[in-house]
Amino acid sequence: MRSFAHRQRLQQRGLAREEFLGRPVIAIINTWSDLSPCHAHLRERAEAVRRGILQAGGFAFELPALSLGEVMVKPTTMLYRNLLAMETEELLRSHPVDGAVLMGGCDKTTPGLLMGAVSMDIPVIYCPAGPMLNDRYKGKTVGAGTHTKKFFDEYVAGNIEQREWIQLESKMTRSPGTCNTMGTASTMTAMAEAMGFTLPGATSIPAMDANHVRMASACGRRIVDMVWEDLKPSSFFTRDSINNALATYMALGGSTNAAIHTIAMAGRAGIPLSLDDMNAVADKIPVIANLFPSGDKLMEDFFYAGGLPALLNEIRPHLALHARTVTGKSLGENIADAKNLDEDVIRPLSHPVSAGRALAVLRGNLCPDGAIIKPSAASPKFMKHRGRALVFDSNAEMLAKIHAPDLDVDENTVLVLRNAGPVGAPGMPEWGNLPIPKKLLQRGIRDMVRISDARMSGTHYGSCIVHAAPEAAIGGPLALLRDGDWIVLDVAARILNVELSEAELAARRAQWTAPPRFTERGFTRMYVEHVTQADKGCDFDFLMGTAKTPEPPIY
Ligand code: FES
Repeated sequence: MRSFAHRQRLQQRGLAREEFLGRPVIAIINTWSDLSPCHAHLRERAEAVRRGILQAGGFAFELPALSLGEVMVKPTTMLYRNLLAMETEELLRSHPVDGAVLMGGCDKTTPGLLMGAVSMDIPVIYCPAGPMLNDRYKGKTVGAGTHTKKFFDEYVAGNIEQREWIQLESKMTRSPGTCNTMGTASTMTAMAEAMGFTLPGATSIPAMDANHVRMASACGRRIVDMVWEDLKPSSFFTRDSINNALATYMALGGSTNAAIHTIAMAGRAGIPLSLDDMNAVADKIPVIANLFPSGDKLMEDFFYAGGLPALLNEIRPHLALHARTVTGKSLGENIADAKNLDEDVIRPLSHPVSAGRALAVLRGNLCPDGAIIKPSAASPKFMKHRGRALVFDSNAEMLAKIHAPDLDVDENTVLVLRNAGPVGAPGMPEWGNLPIPKKLLQRGIRDMVRISDARMSGTHYGSCIVHAAPEAAIGGPLALLRDGDWIVLDVAARILNVELSEAELAARRAQWTAPPRFTERGFTRMYVEHVTQADKGCDFDFLMGTAKTPEPPIY
């Protein structure tokens, strides 16, 4: 009865039986929308995917999904990553689908789509949006994210006038495509490639390059074969492929956000992954991709240098080369012909971009469950620091006070933002790169130690300690800090402490009362009731693990 209804209703669309009977049914899950500029080309690109599916003998249909344009969604797309993951899983479960091409790229879409696909575990291939094009300004290459932050600081300091700022706005975002620094989008798509979810080299292709169109149609052709081969995520998304992704993360100097997303993705496959596992990989692999914010090049330069396959070739000794991928071949086979065409952009392991590593996991009485810092994008002088805390209870309070001329702050102050975590904000926005107070900007100060239970943009830089867990809103130690407390940071020793006795902390804890929570209604209510902390990936507790939803009854 059900298959009859499916056949009948497809014919209602004007399709002949021979166009779909006996063919693998492939969904194109597309996160295009008018408010996702990074995905602006995915509507058109879906047609290239469809072309490939039809060429290979499949039957294609497109399913729109939550678009999550990073800068358009308030308070943060992170609040909705799990919603996209749920949507992806349920779209794949509830429709008659044999396999899917997943189309995304802007920060949360990659983990969201892949988390859902791993949980559903049918054949999928990832078609990444690709980075936007570079532009030039006053003879210098400029892009989105890192440059935005740098220029904005100069604007606040009074070194850039409003007329120039308006010109710069469009210069930094030249075309559709994801941010062209090694921000969260490029980190996550590259890690997806290293995990085996994309065609080789797919993630480095600029969004507006004809190669990108060809890659999209190749995704369509390949998914049809993957269905016949029954090549599901569980066949290749393993501990080895996750380790390959972590090695990639460190070599790229990737976004701090990747730590959260990778734990969440691994959790969907029932693979335990901890911050300490990541720290161990960061111990071994230096940053070799000379890309903003750790370096000074952009993704278009990375593509010309050979892209991700060339970088993977450089870190070959650290990879599980036998790990399978969507090509049906191993990662080692996929990168066999890769060549590094520019050793200034993709450095050999012997000549890293930075003495600082991509990630250091800190612990101490301020973050017993961990916090992270990205030393490669921070000031070396702050890697060992002792300073007095200046504490803000909310982002609104911080924004209201940070540029006040009488703010009690100097360059050694440690700025602290709390109640900005998964439950507190809610959704853990990218507020962790607290602005430098205007009065210090005007004195030429461009970095300070900052601590929060929030996240920070992968495109940003600075001595920011983020993801402090447990977060303040559920009683984590950041909640106990007061202005003037002495904070000690020692990145080499992996320590973040406040100089307070256990007795003093206990006394403050006894006085602490939880801030009000959003518990009124809807998705946000479900979010605050079920989201896990940063060290657990911020997934919902009921979505972690490999338990399967039973198939709905067939009528
Ligand atoms: Fe979409 Fe940066 S805003 S990738």
